[in-house]
Amino acid sequence: MTYAAITGWGKCMPPAVLSNADLSTFLDTGDEWITSRTGMKERRISHVSATEMAVVAARRALACAGVDAADVELIVYGSCSADEQVPNSASGVQAALGATKAASMDVNTACTSFLYSLSTATALIRTGVVKTALVIGVEIISPFMDWDNRNVAVLFGDGCAAVVVQASDKEEGVLGEQLGCLADARQTLRVRGMGTAYTNRNVMSGDTEWDFDGQEIFKRAVQGMVQASQAVMKKCGVTPDQIDLVVPHQANLRIIEAVVSRSGVPMDKVMLTVERYGNMSAATVPVALAEALEEGRMKPGALVLLPAFGAGLTVCAHLVRWGDRVTPLGLSAAELPPLKKTALELVQEIRSHKARAQSAAGLRSARLIETV
Ligand code: UT7
Repeated sequence: MTYAAITGWGKCMPPAVLSNADLSTFLDTGDEWITSRTGMKERRISHVSATEMAVVAARRALACAGVDAADVELIVYGSCSADEQVPNSASGVQAALGATKAASMDVNTACTSFLYSLSTATALIRTGVVKTALVIGVEIISPFMDWDNRNVAVLFGDGCAAVVVQASDKEEGVLGEQLGCLADARQTLRVRGMGTAYTNRNVMSGDTEWDFDGQEIFKRAVQGMVQASQAVMKKCGVTPDQIDLVVPHQANLRIIEAVVSRSGVPMDKVMLTVERYGNMSAATVPVALAEALEEGRMKPGALVLLPAFGAGLTVCAHLVRWGDRVTPLGLSAAELPPLKKTALELVQEIRSHKARAQSAAGLRSARLIETV
């Protein structure tokens, strides 16, 4: 039997930190509300493209696994923030790495994109199609954030991490997963103003407005992640007391607390990054996984539960058996270019660019366009 072990990991976090106090300089919000409702204190704002972050994270993950880019046969790029619609972003990472033997694909299931990408790579390894894959979870939400909408602007941040997955004859990597989509609730989270639905409709591409029903998403996310976690544990014959570490999607501390308590796992087994990074969509799970390894929280042979949800509403839970190695084989010198601006300056540039473009073009609101 062939398994798909995770043998390398690496993250790339943009250096610019946007605090709750920064947000309250242009929004009617404050640290007390954000901290008590979400558990978030800070998030990162990227000064580079998603692909640039992905290339740095990928180089770090490859060095960690001791794998040459030339030996990668598959790149799966999990994200809802592609640099361009065509060509895909995975091919940009492939070109930058010189991974000439690889097949490259993008997977977009919003915040669950990394885990759906991990399922894709695992399945292609376990069926013998490829032996070595790079799986990326990356998001750069700041360019399409609805920065004047306090319901969403305080919740999200940018970030990236990648893992290397390799064929193994040991029972390692994804042991099982439960995937699903609560499509009847897809209207609860929609980013308007990007995509072909808005072409030729007098809407500026990228002038985004968000539909967001936080309370409904909260409820459905908790139910969905608990059901998926219970289903995958049952499928794999595992009980909650056997779980060593939970690495959940980090959308809200209260959502995480509700999911783990209903799944029967204590909070001290949960890896948390939500306070420092907010919700980085597809990047939250792999960044938390990389930090669990950096902080020595991943033990050799650990059984890890990874529950997540995202727009769609996609839901999933994966069970991963970690291998013997919890330290990197090598380190990469790859770094992002330096930055002279603050996160608040980067956000203000995005806001003023949109305001100028809107008033120059006399555009209509994306919210007025009919969608399914
Ligand atoms: O990964 C997928 C995306 N993530 C999610 O979808 C997150 C899911 N939802 C949530 O995490 C929570 O529902 C929120 C954090 C979004 C909101 O928390 P809540 O406890 O459900 O708050 P609420 O929606 O009940 O809002 C309570 C009040 C409202 O004021 P009124 O109507 O009671 O006067 C909001 O207008 O809080 C107000 N509010 C804010 N106040 C200060 C909403 N956003 C803010 C804000 N600052 N940023």
